[in-house]
Amino acid sequence: MSKGRWHYQMANIHPSENSYAVDPESAMEMARLMDLDIIVNKQMGGLFPPDIDLGKVHDVLDIACGPGGWAMEVAFEHPDKHVVGIDISRAMLEYATAQANMQDLQNIEFFFMDATASLEFPAASFDLINARFIVGFMWKEAWPELIKECMRILRPGGIIRITDTDRVFSPSNSAALEKFNIFVSKAFVRTGRSFCKEENANHFGLTPMLGALLAAAGCENIRKIPYMLNYSAGKPAHFAQTHNWEMGLALLVPFFRRTSMASQEELEELYQQVLVEMRRDDFRGIWYFMSAYGAKPM
Ligand SMILES: C[S@@+](CC[C@H](N)C(=O)[O-])C[C@H]1O[C@@H](n2cnc3c(N)ncnc32)[C@H](O)[C@@H]1O
Repeated sequence: MSKGRWHYQMANIHPSENSYAVDPESAMEMARLMDLDIIVNKQMGGLFPPDIDLGKVHDVLDIACGPGGWAMEVAFEHPDKHVVGIDISRAMLEYATAQANMQDLQNIEFFFMDATASLEFPAASFDLINARFIVGFMWKEAWPELIKECMRILRPGGIIRITDTDRVFSPSNSAALEKFNIFVSKAFVRTGRSFCKEENANHFGLTPMLGALLAAAGCENIRKIPYMLNYSAGKPAHFAQTHNWEMGLALLVPFFRRTSMASQEELEELYQQVLVEMRRDDFRGIWYFMSAYGAKPM
């Protein structure tokens, strides 16, 4: 497995470890991402930013494509476009390739590639680059490098869109979920993934940085779109999103242990509390995420 340049700068993570906070080969993570893709695509209301000229988009790259949901939908809906998905999970890439073959999609390819290292594409290869929910493996220092790489492989006028979040389990009125939010926020500081300091880490501090990161790489005409998913009890997204958080939490337990957030017993107790609290009739939870996108100058 190729290793990114920043793996060796981490204080708390052994260099041989993959940078993703959960096991990328896990079947449960793959199932979770397949569900999440459906929820998020629906919430975003379309595959592409609403105000771009799709006629100018031929080659599309999806960074950290997971099981390939977004990329395959683009390939299916736009047979005129050529789509490439990259990821570090062999299991997800195999699944995505098998799905594309089954659907007889001729205009899509999937490659194993580490997004925290140089991207193995020639300059000016793509018209649109999409990266969604990559905070789970990106070191803080990796962001400017990845965006610089994207600018290199974009054609002039090409679009880069990053969609991500600052909190995965918050805000909600579940005390246990809020506690897990603090754990993940602090663990992200300890492993170099956060733009916050540990003393006040109750989010990742990423979305306020996205515009500045794009601008620093020379992007122009930068726009931002916020999204909110209300998955409170009684809302249509309640079942799917609470199920998603449950799977996500179970997968994150080893990461919480490695980053010394709590003992196994404490984590298990808290997990049981989450299951109860998210099923209560008065449960309220909203998940916020944001897209920032801009263009490479002509
Ligand atoms: C939260 S998922 C997002 C999947 C997809 N983009 C989506 O929005 O549904 C993060 C993905 O990053 C992949 N990943 C982890 N580390 C990576 C790396 N260094 N380079 C590329 N992909 C990586 C994981 O395998 C996983 O598929």
